[in-house]
Amino acid sequence: GKGEYDHFMLKEIHEQPTALAQAIEGRIDPENGRIALEDFPPGTFDGVENVQLIACGTSYHAALYGSVALNQAGIHATALLANEYSVTAPPVDDDTLVIAVTQSGETADTLSALRQATAAGADTLTVTNVVGSTAAREADDTLFIRAGPEIGVAATKTFSSQAVMLTLLAQRIAADARDETPADLQSLLPDLAQMPGQLEDLLATDDAAHIASQYQGSQSYFFIGRGLGYPVALEGALKFKEITYEHAEGFASGELKHGPLALVTPDTPVFAVFTGEEDEKTLKNAEEAQTRGAPVIAVCPEGHRAAEVADEHLEIPDADDELAGLLANVQLQLVSYHAAELLDRPIDKPRNLAKSVTVE
Ligand code: F6R
Repeated sequence: GKGEYDHFMLKEIHEQPTALAQAIEGRIDPENGRIALEDFPPGTFDGVENVQLIACGTSYHAALYGSVALNQAGIHATALLANEYSVTAPPVDDDTLVIAVTQSGETADTLSALRQATAAGADTLTVTNVVGSTAAREADDTLFIRAGPEIGVAATKTFSSQAVMLTLLAQRIAADARDETPADLQSLLPDLAQMPGQLEDLLATDDAAHIASQYQGSQSYFFIGRGLGYPVALEGALKFKEITYEHAEGFASGELKHGPLALVTPDTPVFAVFTGEEDEKTLKNAEEAQTRGAPVIAVCPEGHRAAEVADEHLEIPDADDELAGLLANVQLQLVSYHAAELLDRPIDKPRNLAKSVTVE
């Protein structure tokens, strides 16, 4: 049941510290800078030169997060919408690994893309929450995110767990390909180990409700981010539109000035995600919106310059750049939840949506 919570979504948002602790349990060794993924001994990903990640919706945003992490680790990677894969799939060869990212493991679009990749001769791996699901059974290998059951139609904890698993996988693939432990792990793994505790603190001081009420009734809600902050911006907007029924859109920070800026007015709050990746550029993009009268809400660590410049800010704990976006995403989940609550929406079962989409 929902226990003390009004909705499964809020319960599942609050389950994220536990979900993440379960996802990383036994899989990271911060002292020695090692990642141990059960079915994948060191060297497993030796020959991988190219990774295609296929997924839909929120899982696509996790896949995009994974592709950015892989590219930043020096591995060629592309995130692809599974429903576009049948017409736009890049070629695969012996060195291609195709990763299906699907919480349920039953999404028809994703299964169809997975089958196409298999038929084309790619090695396949499924990242999923559901043991025994079709995607888990059909791929060559599986990595379970261990998030526990998710009832709310809007995916929350599974997004965080998928993104964390893909971050670890990115480091492992890079380590195998280069035959050395990436230096990044020295800061990433200890920061990952303390993330469940940081999330507990963030959730205990939920201050997203006042942001939600302050901007209630706006015309549109925009979300911007760069690098790993870009998939977070897309996910922030998807969650917002799904459960509030208000118009929301996510953009790469630098894209705002290439068109969307025409929509920016005092009636379009802009949420800007700061992940430590060229933050000064994102801040400049946010200020361009502010100049047009839009209120800017920065999601950033304490003492960040963006907090001074923005009209409001939501604080995230200090973390490695590779994890900051996931902390920011939790703040955005809370904003969406509180905005939907103010509008009295059926948060756990938004109109027209189903938890698992089994048709193409
Ligand atoms: C959004 C949401 C959907 C799913 C998508 C893929 O909150 O839940 O966008 O992410 O339908 O579902 P899975 O991950 O089960 O393949």
